[in-house]
Amino acid sequence: MVNIGIVGSGKGSNCRAILQSIRDGKLDAKATVVISDVLEAPILQIAGEFGVPNAYLPPGHFRTRLEPIVEEQLVEMLRNAGAEVVVLAGFMRVLKEPMLEAFPRQIINIHPSLLPKFPGLEAWKQALAANDKWTGVTVHYVDAQVDHGDIILQREVPILPGDTPESLHARIQAVEHELYPEALAQVFRDMGRS
Ligand code: GAR
Repeated sequence: MVNIGIVGSGKGSNCRAILQSIRDGKLDAKATVVISDVLEAPILQIAGEFGVPNAYLPPGHFRTRLEPIVEEQLVEMLRNAGAEVVVLAGFMRVLKEPMLEAFPRQIINIHPSLLPKFPGLEAWKQALAANDKWTGVTVHYVDAQVDHGDIILQREVPILPGDTPESLHARIQAVEHELYPEALAQVFRDMGRS
């Protein structure tokens, strides 16, 4: 069993899917902490629902990353929770040296596109604007670039005629909820842990 720490900024549907997979015995992990940079983020309530310790971490003054001292605090919180793998689930800030050095090749992210296409915000809108017929989901190791790093798993999602940003993102999220637990199981196997 692998101890994971989940970090996210928003509604937490991927966090829920992962916690449910653990509860259902499909993913051999224990979520030891959920941390959010957003005070009222539903992800913290979801953690509570599943009985997982959770905390708000005030992000400091920057908009796209954590203040360095805060990022050190994040490292400490995850270490105190015994996290072996850090799972980013809708975390909307870029991680820098403190986290990348503390957890080398141990931080995983999910992104709503077929990377390297459409990194950045609202990737489903970028795919719609490009008039593509397919987009998808990528789970990858985190490195120093935004939405970049070795790919663990990808799955395609069709873009249908008449799709709106909302309908497309909903179809992408349904795939995310299957893919993220599968990708984590693969990470654990690659670590020799299941
Ligand atoms: C997900 O669609 C995830 O792929 C995306 O944020 C959403 C979070 O949803 N992440 C990124 O765009 C990262 N660059 P959730 O809070 O319901 O899991």
